Amino acid sequence: MLKISSLKKLVTDSMAIDLGTASTIIAVKGRGVVLDEPSLVAINEMSEEIVAFGQEAFDMTGRESRDVNVKAPLIGGVVADFERTKKMLAHFVKKAKSGGPNITIRAVMSLVSDVTHVEQRALFNAAEDAHIGKVFMMEEGLAAAFGAGVLPTDKRASAIVDIGAGTTNIAIIAKGSVVHSTSERYGSNAINESIATHLRRHRGLQVGEETTEMLKTQFASTFLPEDIAKTIEIRGRDVQTGSPGAVEITSGEIYPIVEGIVRRIALRVKDTLTELQPEVAADIYDRGVILTGGGALLEGIDQYLRSFINLPVSIADEPRYATVHGLIKMFDDPDLLERVSFNELSILQNAEIPFEA
Ligand SMILES: Nc1ncnc2c1ncn2[C@@H]1O[C@H](COP(=O)(O)OP(=O)(O)OP(=O)(O)O)[C@@H](O)[C@H]1O
Ligand SMILES: [Mg+2]
Repeated sequence: MLKISSLKKLVTDSMAIDLGTASTIIAVKGRGVVLDEPSLVAINEMSEEIVAFGQEAFDMTGRESRDVNVKAPLIGGVVADFERTKKMLAHFVKKAKSGGPNITIRAVMSLVSDVTHVEQRALFNAAEDAHIGKVFMMEEGLAAAFGAGVLPTDKRASAIVDIGAGTTNIAIIAKGSVVHSTSERYGSNAINESIATHLRRHRGLQVGEETTEMLKTQFASTFLPEDIAKTIEIRGRDVQTGSPGAVEITSGEIYPIVEGIVRRIALRVKDTLTELQPEVAADIYDRGVILTGGGALLEGIDQYLRSFINLPVSIADEPRYATVHGLIKMFDDPDLLERVSFNELSILQNAEIPFEA
C-alpha cells in the first residue's frame, strides 16, 4: 500500500505525463507544461535504429529520406509498438527533466478507461524503463475532468468528452470518481483519414498528413459554410500518372466529410447520455457537457454538439492540456491521488483474477 508520508515528500520532482496517440504532453510540478511533442519516432529502416523523436521526427514526416520511416508507436491510445513506445517515453522524460532536478521522479500517467491489463503493464514497464521511481496511473477521463475545473468534492455529476486523435473518451464524474464512462477508438484523426480517402477516390490525388491537417484546422467546418464555393488548391501525387499534381477543392466538398465524422462522435455522446441513472442524468441536464482534447478545437464542434444533444456544451480552457493539468493537480492532494490511482500491484492483482476463476 502507498504511504502518505512518502507522498508528502513530493516537491519539485513530480511529473505528469499524458501519453497520447498524437502528442505526448509532460508537466512538472511548479514548472507547468515543459514538453508537448508529437508521439512519433523516425526509424532508419536499414539499422532499425531510432534516428529522431517527437517534433524532430514530425518534421521529417511525408518527406522522409529513402531509408527513414516515421512511425507512431501508439495507435488509438494503445501501445502498438512497445519497444519504441518505451524508448520514446524515456527520451521525453529525460528531455522534460533537463533544467530541473534530476533525482528520482514520481510520475502520474493517464490511462484510457478500457485499456487491457496487458496494455497497462506495458505502460508501467515503459515508465520503469524511463527511470521513473514511482509511477501512478489514473483514468484519463478523471484527469481531464479535474483539469477542466471539476472539483473532486463536487457531489453533483459532470460530463467530460475528451476528443483525442485516436480515441473519444466520455466520462461522467461525481465526488471525484468516474460513475460511468465509454471509450471509442475513434477520434479527430478520422477526419484526416476521411479527407485523404475522398481526395484519392474522387479527385485522384494522394495527399500527405500535413495537407489533411491544414484542411481540417483551417478550411473545414462543422456547419454548412456560407460560401460553399470557396476554393483552395491542394497539391500532391496524381493517382493515375504518379506525377505531382494539384486539384481545386471547395469548402462545400469538405463539409459533408467532416460532418459525417463529427456526427458519429456526437451520436456516441448522445447514446452514452441515455445510459445514466436518473439523478446523474438530472445533473447533466442542468450542466451539460465539457469538451477537452485537441478535437475540441475543431471549428464549431461545440455548437454542433449543443444542437445535437440539446444541452449546454462548453470547451475547457486549453483543451489539449486538460488531462495533464488534471494529472499535475493530483500532487496537491495525496489522499486523492491514493484513492484514484492504480499502482503496479493493483494491476497485477486484477490481472490474476481471470486465471483464478
Ligand atoms: N485547431 C485544431 N482544429 C481541429 N483539430 C485540431 C486542432 N488542433 C489539434 N487538433 C486535432 O486534435 C487531435 C489531437 O488531440 P490530442 O492532443 O488531445 O490527442 P491525443 O491525446 O494525442 O490523442 P488520444 O487521446 O486519442 O490518445 C489531432 O487529431 C489534431 O488534428
Ligand atoms: Mg488524449
